[in-house]
Amino acid sequence: MQTALKAATIGPRGANPLVGSILVDERGRVLAAGHHRGAGTYHAERDCLASALAAGITDFSATKLYTTLEPCTHYGRQPACTDLITEAGIPTVLIGARDPSTNGGGVEVLRSRGTEVVDGLLRKQCEQLNHRWNRAVKEDRIFVTVHLAQSIDARIAAADGTSQWITSETSREHTHRIRQRVDAILVGTNTVTTDDPRLTARDERGALTPGQPLRAVMGRSEIPDLAQLTQGRPEGEGWIHLRTRDPLTALRTLAETQHNGHPVKHVLVEGGQSVLSAFFAADLVDEIFVYTAPLILGTGRASLTDIGVTTLAEARRYTLDAADGGPTTIMNNDVCIHLQPEPKGAH
Ligand SMILES: NC(=O)c1ccc[n+]([C@@H]2O[C@H](COP(=O)([O-])OP(=O)(O)OC[C@H]3O[C@@H](n4cnc5c(N)ncnc54)[C@H](OP(=O)(O)O)[C@@H]3O)[C@@H](O)[C@H]2O)c1
Repeated sequence: MQTALKAATIGPRGANPLVGSILVDERGRVLAAGHHRGAGTYHAERDCLASALAAGITDFSATKLYTTLEPCTHYGRQPACTDLITEAGIPTVLIGARDPSTNGGGVEVLRSRGTEVVDGLLRKQCEQLNHRWNRAVKEDRIFVTVHLAQSIDARIAAADGTSQWITSETSREHTHRIRQRVDAILVGTNTVTTDDPRLTARDERGALTPGQPLRAVMGRSEIPDLAQLTQGRPEGEGWIHLRTRDPLTALRTLAETQHNGHPVKHVLVEGGQSVLSAFFAADLVDEIFVYTAPLILGTGRASLTDIGVTTLAEARRYTLDAADGGPTTIMNNDVCIHLQPEPKGAH
């Protein structure tokens, strides 16, 4: 299961959980490994089976499948993994954590078909791997990733409001890769007025990538008519104005919005200070990418304002996130730190 856990962390966080699977033979030798690469792609079990088939394995009658999360039972954008396991004829499945979402129930389905199921192997580690995703599921809300591009003195803009471009081109390219895998990008009304961002996902040549994310603006003020993010199109055509200051209301509206053929399930919050602070204050941040550039802005705009922390004991605590490229990356002259909230009771 440790090997499956390691495979799981290759994938990106988001609408779907991180999952890893490995197939072993009767002597415990690893025959194939798989992991999930995000919504709409193969689930880990299918990825693992596909690797096994590609390696010429067709007889699964003496194999065991280890998977960090209970196999899904339901046909969505991907077929049910329980059916793939049954069709392949894998006799034994070892599972780490149960799936709290509507896709759960795989343990019972497999057992009802005569598969031997070992449930709860390294359960704690497997649950912790997706503790914020589990929480988002329990709270019935979409997954929230935050992007923070700041100076070393934690400023997101200079005193005169200028903020493009604090970080290097390499960092911005990385942000564009994250934009490519979210359903929506969210900023506050003031960022639209100040920076007039396009909020598009672009490749390294600057070309728009397929399946652009929904562009969302949060706040009660009107959006300037000529704002670039509207691309001259009426609201509802690729962009949305969330006329609220409440982050949970914003997330609920996004969840009810169809974009690229499915509801929004993963949002990237890019700022500015007020909107970011509102999400941190409400403890609605599930994943953070902090890009710190080697410059000092002094009296510029701080990355965050009051989030309700008055004493050290109330500090929000985060841990380095090994998923999706690892916890720290040097990007030209910048440092990107990838974080997730500490599991409850960990400190
Ligand atoms: N370095 C970076 O990565 C980065 C990224 C983005 C922005 N920025 C910089 O950040 C600065 C903008 O920051 P900002 O704080 O002024 O703007 P902001 O967070 O983009 O927008 C603030 C506005 O959002 C609305 N709003 C929505 N929810 C809110 C809430 N819960 N609490 C308070 N206001 C809420 C309010 O306007 P309404 O009256 O409309 O409700 C508020 O005035 C700019 O200088 C921009 O360049 C930097």
